[in-house]
Amino acid sequence: MKVAVVGTGYVGLVTGTCFAETGNSVTCVDIDAEKVKSLQNGKITIYEPGLEAIFKHNIAQNRLKFTTNLAEGIKDAQVIFLALPTPPGEDGSADLKYILKVAEDLGPLLENYAVIVDKSTVPVGTAELVRERVARAATVDFDVVSNPEFLREGVAVEDFMKPERVVIGTKSDKAKKVMDKLYAPLLRQGNPMIYMEERSAEMTKYAANAFLATKITFMNEIANLCELAGANVDDVRRGIGSDSRIGKRFLFAGIGYGGSCFPKDVQALAKTSADFNYDFKILESVMEVNYLQKTKLMPNIKQYFDGNLAGKTVAVWGLAFKPYTDDIREAPALENIKALTEAGAKVRAYDPEAMDNVRKLLGNSIYFAKDLYDALEGADALLIVTEWPEFRTPDFERIETILKNKVIFDGRNLFELEQMQELGFTYHSIGRPAVTVAAQNA
Ligand code: UDX
Repeated sequence: MKVAVVGTGYVGLVTGTCFAETGNSVTCVDIDAEKVKSLQNGKITIYEPGLEAIFKHNIAQNRLKFTTNLAEGIKDAQVIFLALPTPPGEDGSADLKYILKVAEDLGPLLENYAVIVDKSTVPVGTAELVRERVARAATVDFDVVSNPEFLREGVAVEDFMKPERVVIGTKSDKAKKVMDKLYAPLLRQGNPMIYMEERSAEMTKYAANAFLATKITFMNEIANLCELAGANVDDVRRGIGSDSRIGKRFLFAGIGYGGSCFPKDVQALAKTSADFNYDFKILESVMEVNYLQKTKLMPNIKQYFDGNLAGKTVAVWGLAFKPYTDDIREAPALENIKALTEAGAKVRAYDPEAMDNVRKLLGNSIYFAKDLYDALEGADALLIVTEWPEFRTPDFERIETILKNKVIFDGRNLFELEQMQELGFTYHSIGRPAVTVAAQNA
């Protein structure tokens, strides 16, 4: 099939590349000439494991092309994906100006029937708005469908190629046939294509992300309570996760969720609720708890240094909001760096992928280390913010020699309490009893 993807951000580039991989002829369109030039030259503009290889392969096969010209990009396309940014406005609602502008531009350019697909996360009712904008100058028949994406950064290629489900919002049988054909190669394992009305599809995306953000936040609150009540959230997690109604996944307590989706989508759903005069109480709590959770370990750090961080140096392992990405949007690391520097501490940070992005934001106000041990040089304590695999089994003897104090604050519960106790580290994690040297001697 001939497919066009408008917008070569994260979602657009993954969508375009993966549909080229399944044999379609894909053209991606973007107004950013520099980006398009780089992509045309085979230089990928985002970091996503596994994407670069198929990106290059499909360019070489002539199945994946890039242009700044919308008319050229959508020519003869049977499906046109809109994967444009929907940044939150000041009130938290998604700003639709990019999508609606492209919708308006598309109208007069359509030469044959095409399915226009809303791939961006958009509020309920957007497909109707897009349809209306396209229709203003369209001379041929077209359909607008909602097709929310559920990609996780870091495993986006796998999520795209083997989706657990594909949700399509449309009533048009003609559009359904086109979407069935396009997605068939991805659903060979028998996972469902779920059709519904477009408003429900739009709501599904927000409901999924808000539910997952709530699930994590619930566990974070259980963790906070465990700390006070002397319980261990790891055991509680195993205890409840084996109930299939609850499920094992997304039950890991930590120092808060971040990223481009959860924070934005929870906020946008709260805004949608407000628009319908519905007081969605849980969402407000989720946002508040998650904000507080990000600096959950700060009081422990301060207490360890008797309330005074001035002149101290803290090593921070992990800057990305989660492993396998360089994305630092809403990353808990940023809140912690801010709190540490405001309290007078110096920061030596290390992240395998995200340091360039943080450098762009913070300049050289913190030290960017060469590796995890370089971050510890001259540091008084270690704070772990992201669960990169290389942090899971560090050389503790080396840590002990470099770090001034044997103390670790772990926002991702990477280590076993017994191990920390045996090694003689003071160790604060999330929702588990603190290991203190005193406790070890007791
Ligand atoms: C998420 C959704 O999973 C995806 O379906 C949607 O399309 C976009 O948003 P993503 O933001 O890439 O994907 O990351 P995800 O792996 O879902 O993690 C989100 C955040 O939750 C991270 O900050 C992660 O550290 C945190 N998290 C996740 C926890 O704190 N505990 C958990 O148990 C799971």
